[in-house]
Amino acid sequence: MYRSHSCGELRATDINKEITLSGWVQKTRDKGFMIWVDLRDRYGITQLIFDEQRTPKEVVEKAKNLGREFVIQVTGTVIERESKNKNIPTGEIEILVSEFNILNEALVPPFTIEDETDGGEDIRMKYRYLDIRRNPVKNSLMFRHQVAMKVRNYLSKEDFVEVETPYLIKSTPEGARDFVVPSRMNEGQFYALPQSPQTFKQLLMVGGMDKYFQIVKCFRDEDLRADRQPEFTQIDCEMAFVEQEDILTIFEGLTRHLLKEIKNVEIADFPRMTYAEAMKTYGNDKPDIRFGMKFGELNSVAQHKDFKVFNDAELVVGIAVPGGASYTRKEIDKLIDWVRRPQVGALGMVYVKCNEDGTFKSSVDKFYDQEDLANWAKTTGANAGDLICVLSGQINKVRAQLSALRMELAERLGLRNPEEFAPLWVVDFPLLEWDEDTERYHAMHHPFTSPKPEDIALLDSKPGDVRANAYDLVLNGNEIGGGSIRIHDKETQALMFDHLGFTPEEAKAQFGFLMDAFQYGAPPHGGIAFGFDRLVAILGGQETIRDYIAFPKNNSGRDVMIDAPANIDQEQLKELNIKLDL
Ligand code: AMO
Repeated sequence: MYRSHSCGELRATDINKEITLSGWVQKTRDKGFMIWVDLRDRYGITQLIFDEQRTPKEVVEKAKNLGREFVIQVTGTVIERESKNKNIPTGEIEILVSEFNILNEALVPPFTIEDETDGGEDIRMKYRYLDIRRNPVKNSLMFRHQVAMKVRNYLSKEDFVEVETPYLIKSTPEGARDFVVPSRMNEGQFYALPQSPQTFKQLLMVGGMDKYFQIVKCFRDEDLRADRQPEFTQIDCEMAFVEQEDILTIFEGLTRHLLKEIKNVEIADFPRMTYAEAMKTYGNDKPDIRFGMKFGELNSVAQHKDFKVFNDAELVVGIAVPGGASYTRKEIDKLIDWVRRPQVGALGMVYVKCNEDGTFKSSVDKFYDQEDLANWAKTTGANAGDLICVLSGQINKVRAQLSALRMELAERLGLRNPEEFAPLWVVDFPLLEWDEDTERYHAMHHPFTSPKPEDIALLDSKPGDVRANAYDLVLNGNEIGGGSIRIHDKETQALMFDHLGFTPEEAKAQFGFLMDAFQYGAPPHGGIAFGFDRLVAILGGQETIRDYIAFPKNNSGRDVMIDAPANIDQEQLKELNIKLDL
């Protein structure tokens, strides 16, 4: 038996017990006549004491050679500690060791395995298994497990069935590139790894499963960011015989349950906002509504003077920054530099200081009088003491730029409190989205999303205006879930493929299986998928999902620990009939 207890378990009530523990040496303190060792496992730390008076001499001698991260097994007696440590649950006791075994020696770890480590990101990624020994990483993984359990319990109670779907499939279009896997047995052919189980969950509805869910890996070859990994996990769900309202109710329930159980936060109601409203008010389809700084569109009060920049712009729009009137010239210049960075891309920024005495001072005083500026203040909701930041230009661009500025200022002003939770449904997404590169419309969500029946007539004349039965769940400015009511008849699906520029032959080749299935009694259905990593990270108070993934990829999509992706040998390539021309 390796152990009778864990390293987090023993208390004052266990004093005098003979016990055995196994774990890692966190650190040793050698005072010559006495050695203390902190022994660590997943459950905690217990202090060991080797004492020349009370411990056999050869055991003390052996203990002198213990290094950090050695794996040992000790037997001894639980005794009361002289100087108690109130900070840890085992702090009242220590183990007077009578014998111990070194189960395995360890090299000196490349960084200290403590809550505050000296290891940089790269080295910790390379030795991720050592990083996992540290509390912050270990706790994140355990937290993730807790959330997963609560999700499974909740959905099972609601009659959802977890069904596994295949990973070796044919491409599912979710807007990213596919990762592909060559098939040895089918020369020259490839599987695609699923970007999501979308088509399979729809087929499960045709199959009568009624309510499906799966905590499932998805694979997308896209550029990485803090909230994106090439392989990530979804809580993927689908239901038959439902309308949008049914889906929103059930998954509002799940979100409410998780917030209550995990954060003890009660959410009274989940506000809803149309996509159009979100774009107009926040310049963004995933607005963080924990704070204000709503957009004020200024065209009608800013395009009547001789200021050419504004007069030529499609949109002039501003936000009121609370307390910003006190910013110095230098601080404002820095802000202007910030919006001009290529990542944001604004050409410049006009500002108005709303002085405490009710007057205004702007960077465009040459063109606008106090009455004009008072109108701007009214439109942006600025009060005395605020700073109005105004951007102008092409509508989509300027909204994105001002939205970036709004988020940055909120961050700087400490308005993004991670312990405050503000969910929001964004509904009525456009069905189609114009793609500049390919110069054609793409499905904004995916090609199986149904259009709003009343908008179908616009498909030919104004495709960009057609709204979909599609919704996103936003939490604190992050898209944590998205879904739609699906098309469930062959005709509408064919119409949709046609508008997406698929010829009937292409559609048949790629999605024939789904269109065929729709001919055998497909029920009306719809669903949603949550980004599980994102959900867990936000509940944990972070926005970087990497910290909640056991073995994440770096920003270049590499696993630096196992060194993947990697070359494969000639034999393997030959077997797969792949000729590399590098
Ligand atoms: P969607 O593409 O919106 O919908 O994905 C659902 C959710 O998954 C998360 N997500 C990601 N998380 C981490 N890394 C990524 N690369 C990544 N990409 C997406 C987001 C997102 O909201 N099949 C549809 C769902 C449906 O219609 O039911 C789908 O996959 O949080």
